[in-house]
Amino acid sequence: SGFPSGAKKSLSKLGVPSEILEFLFSWVDAHEDCPKIPEAKGAISAIRSEAFFIPLYELFLTYGGIFRLKFGPKSFLIVSDPFIAKHILRENSKAYSKGILAEILEFVMGTGLIPADGEVWRVRRRTIVPALHQKYVAAMISLFGQATDRLCKKLDAAASDGEDVEMESLFSHLTLDIIGKAVFNYDFDSLSNDTGIVEAVYTVLREAEDRSVSPIPFWEIPIWKDISPRQKRVSAALKLINDILDDLIAICKRMVDEEELQFHEEYVNEQDPSILHFLLASGDDVSSKQLRDDLMTMLIAGHETSAAVLTWTFYLLSKEPSVVSKLQEEVDSVLGDRFPTIEDMKKLKYATRVINESLRLYPQPPVLIRRSLENDVLGGYPIKRGEDIFISVWNLHRSPKLWDEAEKFKPERWPLDGPNPNETNQNFSYLPFGGGPRKCVGDMFASYETVVALAMLVRRFNFQIALGAPPVEMTTGATIHTTEGLKMTVTRRIKPPIVPTLEMPSLKAGASVNLS
Ligand code: HEM
Repeated sequence: SGFPSGAKKSLSKLGVPSEILEFLFSWVDAHEDCPKIPEAKGAISAIRSEAFFIPLYELFLTYGGIFRLKFGPKSFLIVSDPFIAKHILRENSKAYSKGILAEILEFVMGTGLIPADGEVWRVRRRTIVPALHQKYVAAMISLFGQATDRLCKKLDAAASDGEDVEMESLFSHLTLDIIGKAVFNYDFDSLSNDTGIVEAVYTVLREAEDRSVSPIPFWEIPIWKDISPRQKRVSAALKLINDILDDLIAICKRMVDEEELQFHEEYVNEQDPSILHFLLASGDDVSSKQLRDDLMTMLIAGHETSAAVLTWTFYLLSKEPSVVSKLQEEVDSVLGDRFPTIEDMKKLKYATRVINESLRLYPQPPVLIRRSLENDVLGGYPIKRGEDIFISVWNLHRSPKLWDEAEKFKPERWPLDGPNPNETNQNFSYLPFGGGPRKCVGDMFASYETVVALAMLVRRFNFQIALGAPPVEMTTGATIHTTEGLKMTVTRRIKPPIVPTLEMPSLKAGASVNLS
Protein backbone atom coordinates (compact mmCIF):
# COMPACT_ATOMS: atom_id res chain seq x y z
CA SER A 1 0.00 0.00 0.00
CA GLY A 2 1.32 3.40 -1.02
CA PHE A 3 4.86 4.65 -0.89
CA PRO A 4 6.57 2.25 1.53
CA SER A 5 5.54 -0.86 -0.27
CA GLY A 6 6.56 0.74 -3.56
CA ALA A 7 9.96 1.56 -2.11
CA LYS A 8 10.20 -1.95 -0.73
CA LYS A 9 9.49 -3.44 -4.12
CA SER A 10 12.06 -1.31 -5.88
CA LEU A 11 14.70 -2.06 -3.24
CA SER A 12 13.96 -5.71 -3.63
CA LYS A 13 14.36 -5.37 -7.40
CA LEU A 14 17.75 -3.79 -6.75
CA GLY A 15 18.73 -7.03 -5.03
CA VAL A 16 18.37 -5.92 -1.42
CA PRO A 17 18.01 -9.13 0.66
CA SER A 18 14.50 -9.69 2.01
CA GLU A 19 15.74 -9.91 5.64
CA ILE A 20 17.05 -6.39 5.38
CA LEU A 21 13.86 -5.17 3.78
CA GLU A 22 11.69 -6.79 6.44
CA PHE A 23 13.79 -5.17 9.11
CA LEU A 24 13.81 -1.80 7.40
CA PHE A 25 10.13 -1.70 6.74
CA SER A 26 8.82 -3.31 9.90
CA TRP A 27 8.38 0.08 11.55
CA VAL A 28 7.04 1.60 8.37
CA ASP A 29 4.25 -0.94 8.28
CA ALA A 30 3.38 0.10 11.81
CA HIS A 31 3.30 3.81 10.92
CA GLU A 32 2.16 3.84 7.32
CA ASP A 33 1.05 7.47 7.50
CA CYS A 34 4.49 8.70 8.59
CA PRO A 35 7.21 6.95 6.61
CA LYS A 36 10.67 6.98 8.14
CA ILE A 37 13.89 7.26 6.23
CA PRO A 38 15.79 3.95 5.91
CA GLU A 39 18.60 3.80 8.40
CA ALA A 40 21.96 2.25 7.59
CA LYS A 41 23.10 0.37 10.66
CA GLY A 42 26.35 -1.31 11.56
CA ALA A 43 28.14 0.26 8.62
CA ILE A 44 29.96 2.89 10.59
CA SER A 45 33.23 1.06 11.09
CA ALA A 46 33.55 0.70 7.35
CA ILE A 47 33.58 4.46 6.99
CA ARG A 48 36.83 5.22 8.77
CA SER A 49 39.42 3.36 6.79
CA GLU A 50 39.09 4.57 3.22
CA ALA A 51 37.86 7.63 1.37
CA PHE A 52 34.46 8.02 3.05
CA PHE A 53 32.42 8.31 -0.13
CA ILE A 54 33.32 4.74 -1.18
CA PRO A 55 31.35 2.92 1.55
CA LEU A 56 28.55 5.45 0.98
CA TYR A 57 28.27 4.07 -2.55
CA GLU A 58 27.78 0.51 -1.26
CA LEU A 59 25.16 1.78 1.20
CA PHE A 60 23.40 3.64 -1.60
CA LEU A 61 23.08 0.41 -3.58
CA THR A 62 21.55 -1.21 -0.50
CA TYR A 63 19.37 1.54 0.94
CA GLY A 64 18.56 3.72 -2.05
CA GLY A 65 18.42 7.40 -2.92
CA ILE A 66 17.99 8.65 0.64
CA PHE A 67 19.04 7.00 3.90
CA ARG A 68 20.19 7.93 7.35
CA LEU A 69 23.66 7.24 8.64
CA LYS A 70 24.44 7.37 12.35
CA PHE A 71 27.85 8.21 13.71
CA GLY A 72 27.57 7.95 17.49
CA PRO A 73 25.53 11.01 18.47
CA LYS A 74 25.72 12.49 14.96
CA SER A 75 23.35 11.63 12.19
CA PHE A 76 23.46 12.44 8.49
CA LEU A 77 21.08 12.06 5.59
CA ILE A 78 22.79 10.73 2.51
CA VAL A 79 21.11 11.77 -0.72
CA SER A 80 21.92 10.06 -4.04
CA ASP A 81 18.74 10.75 -5.97
CA PRO A 82 18.55 13.39 -8.73
CA PHE A 83 15.04 14.57 -7.85
CA ILE A 84 15.87 15.03 -4.17
CA ALA A 85 19.14 16.75 -5.08
CA LYS A 86 17.24 19.11 -7.38
CA HIS A 87 14.73 19.86 -4.63
CA ILE A 88 17.46 20.75 -2.12
CA LEU A 89 19.76 22.63 -4.47
CA ARG A 90 17.27 24.41 -6.67
CA GLU A 91 13.56 24.15 -5.92
CA ASN A 92 13.68 24.72 -2.17
CA SER A 93 17.24 26.01 -1.84
CA LYS A 94 16.24 28.78 0.55
CA ALA A 95 15.43 26.13 3.16
CA TYR A 96 19.05 24.90 3.28
CA SER A 97 22.35 26.34 4.49
CA LYS A 98 25.96 25.19 4.22
CA GLY A 99 25.84 23.83 7.80
CA ILE A 100 28.94 21.90 8.89
CA LEU A 101 30.90 23.14 5.89
CA ALA A 102 30.61 26.75 7.07
CA GLU A 103 31.72 25.68 10.57
CA ILE A 104 34.76 23.82 9.26
CA LEU A 105 35.87 26.52 6.84
CA GLU A 106 35.24 29.53 9.06
CA PHE A 107 38.88 29.78 10.16
CA VAL A 108 40.07 30.35 6.60
CA MET A 109 37.14 31.60 4.55
CA GLY A 110 35.30 33.56 7.26
CA THR A 111 32.05 34.56 5.58
CA GLY A 112 33.42 34.16 2.03
CA LEU A 113 31.06 33.16 -0.77
CA ILE A 114 31.30 29.38 -0.31
CA PRO A 115 30.39 29.14 3.39
CA ALA A 116 28.25 32.32 3.55
CA ASP A 117 24.50 32.07 3.96
CA GLY A 118 21.48 34.36 3.97
CA GLU A 119 21.85 38.06 3.29
CA VAL A 120 25.69 38.06 3.35
CA TRP A 121 25.72 35.44 0.62
CA ARG A 122 23.08 37.24 -1.47
CA VAL A 123 24.94 40.55 -1.41
CA ARG A 124 28.36 39.01 -2.15
CA ARG A 125 27.09 36.76 -4.92
CA ARG A 126 25.58 39.80 -6.63
CA THR A 127 28.90 41.65 -6.29
CA ILE A 128 31.21 38.85 -7.41
CA VAL A 129 29.40 37.13 -10.29
CA PRO A 130 29.67 40.19 -12.61
CA ALA A 131 33.48 40.07 -12.20
CA LEU A 132 33.62 36.75 -14.07
CA HIS A 133 32.02 38.14 -17.23
CA GLN A 134 32.73 36.86 -20.77
CA LYS A 135 35.51 39.27 -21.54
CA TYR A 136 37.28 38.42 -18.29
CA VAL A 137 37.13 34.70 -19.01
CA ALA A 138 38.39 35.33 -22.55
CA ALA A 139 41.32 37.32 -21.14
CA MET A 140 42.11 34.36 -18.89
CA ILE A 141 42.69 31.98 -21.82
CA SER A 142 46.12 33.47 -22.53
CA LEU A 143 47.01 33.24 -18.84
CA PHE A 144 46.09 29.53 -18.89
CA GLY A 145 48.31 29.11 -21.96
CA GLN A 146 51.30 30.89 -20.45
CA ALA A 147 51.08 29.00 -17.17
CA THR A 148 50.73 25.65 -18.95
CA ASP A 149 53.69 26.56 -21.15
CA ARG A 150 55.82 26.93 -18.00
CA LEU A 151 54.71 23.44 -16.99
CA CYS A 152 55.59 22.17 -20.48
CA LYS A 153 59.13 23.52 -20.08
CA LYS A 154 59.48 21.61 -16.84
CA LEU A 155 58.20 18.43 -18.43
CA ASP A 156 60.50 18.97 -21.38
CA ALA A 157 63.47 18.97 -19.01
CA ALA A 158 62.20 15.85 -17.27
CA ALA A 159 61.74 14.11 -20.62
CA SER A 160 65.32 15.00 -21.59
CA ASP A 161 66.71 13.73 -18.31
CA GLY A 162 64.57 10.60 -18.39
CA GLU A 163 63.17 11.48 -14.98
CA ASP A 164 59.67 10.52 -13.87
CA VAL A 165 57.37 13.28 -12.67
CA GLU A 166 54.70 13.44 -9.98
CA MET A 167 51.80 15.02 -11.83
CA GLU A 168 49.44 15.64 -8.91
CA SER A 169 51.76 18.16 -7.27
CA LEU A 170 52.66 19.72 -10.62
CA PHE A 171 48.96 20.26 -11.37
CA SER A 172 48.51 21.74 -7.93
CA HIS A 173 51.30 24.26 -8.64
CA LEU A 174 49.93 25.00 -12.11
CA THR A 175 46.46 25.83 -10.84
CA LEU A 176 47.83 27.82 -7.88
CA ASP A 177 49.86 29.96 -10.28
CA ILE A 178 46.78 30.50 -12.43
CA ILE A 179 44.33 31.31 -9.66
CA GLY A 180 46.74 33.74 -7.94
CA LYS A 181 47.00 35.83 -11.11
CA ALA A 182 43.32 35.43 -11.96
CA VAL A 183 41.94 36.44 -8.57
CA PHE A 184 44.38 39.08 -7.26
CA ASN A 185 47.13 39.49 -9.83
CA TYR A 186 49.78 37.75 -7.78
CA ASP A 187 52.34 35.46 -9.39
CA PHE A 188 53.03 32.67 -6.91
CA ASP A 189 55.35 31.15 -9.51
CA SER A 190 55.02 27.97 -7.49
CA LEU A 191 56.11 25.86 -10.46
CA SER A 192 59.60 27.35 -10.02
CA ASN A 193 59.88 28.53 -6.41
CA ASP A 194 58.96 27.21 -3.02
CA THR A 195 58.49 30.51 -1.25
CA GLY A 196 57.04 31.05 2.22
CA ILE A 197 53.73 32.18 0.79
CA VAL A 198 53.28 29.03 -1.27
CA GLU A 199 54.03 26.92 1.80
CA ALA A 200 51.55 29.01 3.79
CA VAL A 201 48.81 28.37 1.24
CA TYR A 202 49.41 24.62 1.49
CA THR A 203 49.50 24.69 5.30
CA VAL A 204 46.08 26.33 5.33
CA LEU A 205 44.69 24.01 2.66
CA ARG A 206 45.83 20.85 4.44
CA GLU A 207 44.31 22.14 7.67
CA ALA A 208 40.97 22.82 5.98
CA GLU A 209 40.99 19.33 4.48
CA ASP A 210 41.99 17.62 7.71
CA ARG A 211 39.26 19.45 9.57
CA SER A 212 36.69 18.39 7.02
CA VAL A 213 37.44 14.70 7.58
CA SER A 214 38.15 14.82 11.31
CA PRO A 215 35.48 13.27 13.54
CA ILE A 216 36.39 15.51 16.53
CA PRO A 217 36.70 19.29 16.25
CA PHE A 218 39.95 19.36 18.24
CA TRP A 219 40.71 22.87 17.00
CA GLU A 220 37.79 24.17 19.04
CA ILE A 221 39.35 23.13 22.34
CA PRO A 222 40.47 26.50 23.77
CA ILE A 223 43.92 25.57 25.14
CA TRP A 224 44.72 23.36 22.16
CA LYS A 225 44.59 26.39 19.90
CA ASP A 226 47.37 28.06 21.86
CA ILE A 227 49.73 25.19 22.61
CA SER A 228 49.45 22.91 19.58
CA PRO A 229 52.47 23.56 17.34
CA ARG A 230 50.36 22.70 14.38
CA GLN A 231 47.64 25.21 15.23
CA LYS A 232 50.34 27.83 15.74
CA ARG A 233 51.70 27.07 12.29
CA VAL A 234 48.23 27.44 10.83
CA SER A 235 47.75 30.80 12.54
CA ALA A 236 51.13 32.03 11.29
CA ALA A 237 50.34 30.89 7.74
CA LEU A 238 46.97 32.65 7.82
CA LYS A 239 48.61 35.84 9.05
CA LEU A 240 51.19 35.72 6.26
CA ILE A 241 48.54 35.24 3.59
CA ASN A 242 46.32 37.97 5.01
CA ASP A 243 49.22 40.44 5.14
CA ILE A 244 50.00 39.74 1.50
CA LEU A 245 46.33 40.10 0.59
CA ASP A 246 46.25 43.47 2.35
CA ASP A 247 49.29 44.60 0.37
CA LEU A 248 47.78 43.41 -2.91
CA ILE A 249 44.52 45.16 -2.14
CA ALA A 250 46.40 48.41 -1.40
CA ILE A 251 48.48 48.18 -4.58
CA CYS A 252 45.42 47.44 -6.66
CA LYS A 253 43.49 50.31 -5.07
CA ARG A 254 46.26 52.73 -6.12
CA MET A 255 46.08 51.43 -9.69
CA VAL A 256 42.32 51.87 -9.76
CA ASP A 257 42.59 55.43 -8.41
CA GLU A 258 45.14 56.39 -11.05
CA GLU A 259 43.51 54.84 -14.09
CA GLU A 260 41.30 56.71 -16.52
CA LEU A 261 39.10 53.74 -17.38
CA GLN A 262 35.40 54.20 -16.94
CA PHE A 263 33.82 51.31 -15.06
CA HIS A 264 31.26 49.36 -17.05
CA GLU A 265 29.73 45.90 -17.27
CA GLU A 266 32.56 44.24 -19.18
CA TYR A 267 35.30 46.25 -17.58
CA VAL A 268 38.78 44.69 -17.81
CA ASN A 269 42.09 46.38 -17.02
CA GLU A 270 44.57 45.00 -19.54
CA GLN A 271 47.56 45.16 -17.20
CA ASP A 272 45.64 43.58 -14.38
CA PRO A 273 42.50 41.73 -15.43
CA SER A 274 42.08 40.18 -11.95
CA ILE A 275 38.80 39.74 -10.11
CA LEU A 276 40.16 41.97 -7.34
CA HIS A 277 40.73 44.80 -9.80
CA PHE A 278 37.17 44.52 -11.07
CA LEU A 279 35.76 44.49 -7.54
CA LEU A 280 37.71 47.57 -6.46
CA ALA A 281 36.84 49.41 -9.66
CA SER A 282 33.18 48.58 -9.07
CA GLY A 283 33.43 50.28 -5.69
CA ASP A 284 33.91 47.36 -3.32
CA ASP A 285 35.11 48.35 0.15
CA VAL A 286 38.92 47.98 0.31
CA SER A 287 39.18 47.81 4.06
CA SER A 288 36.57 45.13 4.58
CA LYS A 289 37.29 41.71 5.99
CA GLN A 290 34.57 40.48 3.65
CA LEU A 291 36.66 41.30 0.58
CA ARG A 292 39.60 39.34 1.97
CA ASP A 293 37.31 36.42 2.89
CA ASP A 294 36.01 36.30 -0.67
CA LEU A 295 39.48 36.47 -2.22
CA MET A 296 40.69 33.68 0.05
CA THR A 297 37.58 31.64 -0.81
CA MET A 298 38.18 31.96 -4.53
CA LEU A 299 41.86 31.16 -4.11
CA ILE A 300 40.98 27.87 -2.44
CA ALA A 301 37.87 27.09 -4.52
CA GLY A 302 39.68 27.56 -7.79
CA HIS A 303 42.89 25.82 -6.89
CA GLU A 304 42.49 22.27 -5.57
CA THR A 305 39.37 21.57 -7.61
CA SER A 306 41.02 22.24 -10.98
CA ALA A 307 44.19 20.44 -9.90
CA ALA A 308 42.18 17.37 -8.93
CA VAL A 309 40.29 17.41 -12.23
CA LEU A 310 43.55 17.42 -14.19
CA THR A 311 45.10 14.73 -12.00
CA TRP A 312 42.20 12.30 -12.45
CA THR A 313 41.87 13.13 -16.14
CA PHE A 314 45.47 12.10 -16.73
CA TYR A 315 44.98 8.99 -14.63
CA LEU A 316 41.92 8.03 -16.69
CA LEU A 317 43.74 8.76 -19.96
CA SER A 318 46.64 6.55 -18.92
CA LYS A 319 44.24 3.61 -19.03
CA GLU A 320 42.54 4.49 -22.34
CA PRO A 321 45.10 4.96 -25.14
CA SER A 322 42.34 5.11 -27.75
CA VAL A 323 40.90 8.21 -26.10
CA VAL A 324 44.36 9.79 -26.08
CA SER A 325 44.80 9.17 -29.81
CA LYS A 326 41.47 10.78 -30.62
CA LEU A 327 42.29 13.68 -28.36
CA GLN A 328 45.70 14.24 -29.93
CA GLU A 329 44.21 14.11 -33.38
CA GLU A 330 41.76 16.86 -32.48
CA VAL A 331 44.36 19.04 -30.79
CA ASP A 332 46.81 18.66 -33.69
CA SER A 333 44.23 19.79 -36.19
CA VAL A 334 42.69 22.60 -34.12
CA LEU A 335 45.79 24.08 -32.48
CA GLY A 336 48.90 22.84 -34.15
CA ASP A 337 51.64 24.63 -32.23
CA ARG A 338 49.64 27.72 -31.35
CA PHE A 339 48.52 28.80 -27.90
CA PRO A 340 44.77 28.31 -27.55
CA THR A 341 42.40 31.26 -27.99
CA ILE A 342 38.81 31.74 -26.95
CA GLU A 343 37.68 30.72 -30.47
CA ASP A 344 39.44 27.38 -30.06
CA MET A 345 37.33 26.56 -27.01
CA LYS A 346 34.34 25.85 -29.25
CA LYS A 347 36.45 23.70 -31.55
CA LEU A 348 38.12 21.55 -28.89
CA LYS A 349 34.95 19.50 -28.62
CA TYR A 350 36.44 16.14 -27.79
CA ALA A 351 38.85 17.64 -25.26
CA THR A 352 35.80 19.20 -23.58
CA ARG A 353 34.04 15.82 -23.50
CA VAL A 354 37.12 14.27 -21.89
CA ILE A 355 36.90 16.85 -19.09
CA ASN A 356 33.09 16.40 -18.83
CA GLU A 357 33.59 12.66 -18.42
CA SER A 358 36.46 13.03 -15.96
CA LEU A 359 34.21 15.27 -13.84
CA ARG A 360 31.54 12.58 -13.92
CA LEU A 361 33.82 9.84 -12.62
CA TYR A 362 35.76 12.08 -10.22
CA PRO A 363 33.49 14.92 -9.11
CA GLN A 364 35.27 17.62 -7.08
CA PRO A 365 34.12 17.75 -4.34
CA PRO A 366 32.55 14.26 -4.26
CA VAL A 367 29.81 15.35 -1.82
CA LEU A 368 27.89 18.58 -1.31
CA ILE A 369 27.01 19.54 2.26
CA ARG A 370 23.78 21.19 3.43
CA ARG A 371 21.74 21.67 6.62
CA SER A 372 17.95 22.03 6.67
CA LEU A 373 16.73 25.36 8.08
CA GLU A 374 13.09 24.25 8.20
CA ASN A 375 11.06 21.07 8.20
CA ASP A 376 10.72 19.69 4.69
CA VAL A 377 9.77 16.57 2.77
CA LEU A 378 12.50 14.69 0.87
CA GLY A 379 11.57 11.82 -1.43
CA GLY A 380 8.25 11.44 0.42
CA TYR A 381 9.85 11.38 3.89
CA PRO A 382 9.26 14.23 6.30
CA ILE A 383 12.50 15.65 7.71
CA LYS A 384 13.12 18.08 10.52
CA ARG A 385 14.91 21.37 10.68
CA GLY A 386 18.59 20.97 11.59
CA GLU A 387 19.33 17.80 9.61
CA ASP A 388 22.86 17.55 8.21
CA ILE A 389 22.72 16.37 4.61
CA PHE A 390 25.35 15.00 2.24
CA ILE A 391 24.39 15.02 -1.41
CA SER A 392 26.65 12.36 -2.87
CA VAL A 393 27.58 13.58 -6.32
CA TRP A 394 29.84 10.53 -6.53
CA ASN A 395 26.77 8.25 -6.19
CA LEU A 396 24.67 10.25 -8.65
CA HIS A 397 27.47 10.22 -11.21
CA ARG A 398 28.02 6.46 -10.88
CA SER A 399 24.48 5.27 -10.35
CA PRO A 400 23.87 2.13 -12.44
CA LYS A 401 20.26 3.27 -12.82
CA LEU A 402 21.23 6.59 -14.40
CA TRP A 403 24.21 5.68 -16.56
CA ASP A 404 25.01 3.11 -19.16
CA GLU A 405 28.30 1.41 -18.17
CA ALA A 406 28.54 3.85 -15.26
CA GLU A 407 32.08 2.86 -14.29
CA LYS A 408 33.49 3.26 -17.78
CA PHE A 409 35.47 6.31 -18.93
CA LYS A 410 33.65 7.05 -22.16
CA PRO A 411 33.79 10.66 -23.41
CA GLU A 412 31.68 9.46 -26.38
CA ARG A 413 28.63 9.13 -24.15
CA TRP A 414 27.93 12.78 -24.97
CA PRO A 415 27.73 13.48 -28.72
CA LEU A 416 30.20 16.08 -29.98
CA ASP A 417 27.49 18.12 -31.68
CA GLY A 418 25.17 18.01 -28.67
CA PRO A 419 25.01 20.55 -25.85
CA ASN A 420 27.63 20.63 -23.11
CA PRO A 421 26.27 18.42 -20.36
CA ASN A 422 25.24 20.31 -17.24
CA GLU A 423 22.88 19.86 -14.30
CA THR A 424 19.92 21.34 -16.21
CA ASN A 425 20.09 19.31 -19.41
CA GLN A 426 20.99 16.14 -17.44
CA ASN A 427 18.16 16.75 -14.95
CA PHE A 428 20.40 16.77 -11.86
CA SER A 429 21.96 13.37 -12.47
CA TYR A 430 25.15 15.25 -13.46
CA LEU A 431 26.31 17.98 -11.08
CA PRO A 432 29.97 18.78 -11.75
CA PHE A 433 29.51 22.38 -10.61
CA GLY A 434 26.52 21.94 -8.30
CA GLY A 435 23.21 23.56 -9.25
CA GLY A 436 20.64 26.15 -8.27
CA PRO A 437 21.59 29.53 -6.77
CA ARG A 438 24.76 28.17 -5.14
CA LYS A 439 26.20 26.82 -8.37
CA CYS A 440 29.91 27.40 -8.94
CA VAL A 441 30.70 30.92 -10.18
CA GLY A 442 33.90 29.64 -11.83
CA ASP A 443 32.41 26.90 -14.02
CA MET A 444 33.32 28.53 -17.35
CA PHE A 445 36.73 29.58 -16.05
CA ALA A 446 37.45 26.07 -14.80
CA SER A 447 36.23 24.33 -17.96
CA TYR A 448 38.47 26.47 -20.18
CA GLU A 449 41.40 26.22 -17.78
CA THR A 450 41.34 22.43 -17.75
CA VAL A 451 40.72 22.15 -21.51
CA VAL A 452 43.66 24.48 -22.29
CA ALA A 453 46.02 22.59 -19.97
CA LEU A 454 44.88 19.21 -21.27
CA ALA A 455 45.18 20.25 -24.93
CA MET A 456 48.63 21.80 -24.60
CA LEU A 457 50.04 18.90 -22.60
CA VAL A 458 48.82 16.05 -24.81
CA ARG A 459 49.85 18.03 -27.87
CA ARG A 460 53.48 17.97 -26.78
CA PHE A 461 53.83 14.82 -24.67
CA ASN A 462 52.81 11.25 -24.13
CA PHE A 463 52.14 10.25 -20.55
CA GLN A 464 52.32 6.81 -19.00
CA ILE A 465 52.11 5.57 -15.43
CA ALA A 466 55.76 5.24 -14.39
CA LEU A 467 57.25 1.80 -14.04
CA GLY A 468 57.14 0.74 -10.40
CA ALA A 469 54.86 3.65 -9.47
CA PRO A 470 52.74 3.05 -6.36
CA PRO A 471 49.13 2.03 -7.13
CA VAL A 472 46.91 5.06 -7.67
CA GLU A 473 44.39 5.05 -4.84
CA MET A 474 41.97 7.65 -3.53
CA THR A 475 41.83 9.59 -0.33
CA THR A 476 39.62 12.53 0.56
CA GLY A 477 40.09 16.03 1.66
CA ALA A 478 37.74 18.57 0.19
CA THR A 479 38.56 17.08 -3.20
CA ILE A 480 39.69 13.59 -4.18
CA HIS A 481 43.46 13.16 -3.84
CA THR A 482 45.67 10.21 -4.65
CA THR A 483 47.23 8.46 -1.67
CA GLU A 484 50.77 8.46 -3.04
CA GLY A 485 50.79 10.78 -6.02
CA LEU A 486 50.47 10.21 -9.74
CA LYS A 487 53.91 9.24 -10.90
CA MET A 488 54.26 9.36 -14.67
CA THR A 489 56.84 8.95 -17.39
CA VAL A 490 56.73 11.79 -19.90
CA THR A 491 58.03 11.45 -23.43
CA ARG A 492 58.05 14.06 -26.16
CA ARG A 493 55.66 13.33 -28.96
CA ILE A 494 57.12 12.80 -32.34
CA LYS A 495 54.87 15.34 -33.98
CA PRO A 496 52.94 14.18 -36.98
CA PRO A 497 53.01 16.68 -39.84
CA ILE A 498 50.37 19.36 -39.41
CA VAL A 499 47.84 18.85 -42.15
CA PRO A 500 45.22 21.55 -42.31
CA THR A 501 41.75 20.09 -42.68
CA LEU A 502 40.50 20.61 -46.19
CA GLU A 503 36.95 21.42 -47.13
CA MET A 504 36.69 18.35 -49.35
CA PRO A 505 37.95 20.07 -52.53
CA SER A 506 36.57 18.72 -55.73
CA LEU A 507 39.68 17.45 -57.45
CA LYS A 508 38.91 18.36 -61.01
CA ALA A 509 41.68 17.70 -63.43
CA GLY A 510 44.18 20.50 -63.25
CA ALA A 511 42.76 22.01 -60.06
CA SER A 512 45.47 22.76 -57.52
CA VAL A 513 44.95 22.49 -53.78
CA ASN A 514 46.51 25.25 -51.79
CA LEU A 515 48.06 23.72 -48.67
CA SER A 516 49.45 26.86 -47.11
C1 HEM B 1 30.98 26.53 -5.78
C2 HEM B 1 33.03 22.91 -8.27
C3 HEM B 1 36.43 25.93 -9.91
C4 HEM B 1 34.56 29.47 -7.22
C5 HEM B 1 31.22 25.31 -6.36
C6 HEM B 1 30.37 24.15 -6.22
C7 HEM B 1 30.96 23.12 -6.91
C8 HEM B 1 32.16 23.64 -7.50
C9 HEM B 1 30.46 21.69 -7.03
C10 HEM B 1 29.05 24.07 -5.46
C11 HEM B 1 29.29 23.82 -4.01
C12 HEM B 1 28.00 23.60 -3.24
O1 HEM B 1 26.91 23.70 -3.78
O2 HEM B 1 28.09 23.30 -2.03
C13 HEM B 1 34.14 23.42 -8.91
C14 HEM B 1 35.02 22.63 -9.76
C15 HEM B 1 35.98 23.49 -10.21
C16 HEM B 1 35.70 24.80 -9.66
C17 HEM B 1 34.87 21.14 -10.06
C18 HEM B 1 37.14 23.21 -11.12
C19 HEM B 1 37.15 22.28 -12.06
C20 HEM B 1 36.19 27.17 -9.38
C21 HEM B 1 36.93 28.37 -9.69
C22 HEM B 1 36.40 29.37 -8.92
C23 HEM B 1 35.33 28.78 -8.14
C24 HEM B 1 38.07 28.46 -10.69
C25 HEM B 1 36.77 30.83 -8.84
C26 HEM B 1 37.23 31.56 -9.79
C27 HEM B 1 33.46 28.96 -6.57
C28 HEM B 1 32.66 29.73 -5.63
C29 HEM B 1 31.61 28.89 -5.22
C30 HEM B 1 31.82 27.61 -5.92
C31 HEM B 1 32.92 31.16 -5.19
C32 HEM B 1 30.50 29.22 -4.24
C33 HEM B 1 29.33 29.82 -4.96
C34 HEM B 1 28.19 30.16 -4.03
O3 HEM B 1 28.00 29.50 -3.00
O4 HEM B 1 27.44 31.11 -4.35
N1 HEM B 1 32.30 24.97 -7.16
N2 HEM B 1 34.58 24.70 -8.88
N3 HEM B 1 35.22 27.46 -8.46
N4 HEM B 1 32.93 27.70 -6.72
FE1 HEM B 1 33.69 26.26 -7.89
